[in-house]
Amino acid sequence: MIKVAPSILSANFVNFERDIKMVEKSGADLLHVDVMDGQFVPNMSFGWTTLAAIRPITNLFLDVHLMVQNPERYIDQFAKAGADLIGVHVEATQHIHRALQMIRNAGVKAEVVINPGTPVSQIEPLLPFVDQVLVMTVNPGFGGQKFLPEMISKIQALTDLKKANDYDFEIEIDGGVNDKTVVDCYKAGATVAVAGSFVYGAENPAAAIESMHNATR
Ligand code: DX5
Ligand code: ZN
Repeated sequence: MIKVAPSILSANFVNFERDIKMVEKSGADLLHVDVMDGQFVPNMSFGWTTLAAIRPITNLFLDVHLMVQNPERYIDQFAKAGADLIGVHVEATQHIHRALQMIRNAGVKAEVVINPGTPVSQIEPLLPFVDQVLVMTVNPGFGGQKFLPEMISKIQALTDLKKANDYDFEIEIDGGVNDKTVVDCYKAGATVAVAGSFVYGAENPAAAIESMHNATR
């Protein structure tokens, strides 16, 4: 069964507390927190002060996705604000290995993220140093975009590398994921699925989360 991570990018920004507690009660396995800087992606969301405000209101694991240029500038702030995992894009820094080291040194799980245009080969040397790999299944920046099925072969390639080398990272997918698109990703080895509009746009978010769980068992 895949773990479902609702993305608060699709929540109501003046009602975070209500909308986070709602998905927590509705069976969410973790909470996906999208941070956008208006540079790495053409959109802005919020920063670590918002994360710090969220931390005390939920027990959910906080999966923080930094869509930020040169994220190493802010890793300590997000760690102190209560992130359980911090994801950094390989495209966003000259020193991805150092950024991942900084995350682990701050006592937080480390994730490397690849855009749709980036091949798995680019992160192969990093796989011994990560707790999770995020394969973007849309171009980052906005919720509600269409899933790119061409990314499934990257999930499979990561699963093969994981087996061949005995790595134990999780594989996360993000963008356009619903109870249909999740199925082939799960078969290819994805273990965590982000869902923004599918969960928060649903009339019954608990049923939406359950449908993703049911589609992957
Ligand atoms: C996209 C973000 C996603 C987004 C997903 O840039 O990284 O986490 O919230 O939203 P949906 O599930 O609607 O594609
Ligand atoms: Zn995300």
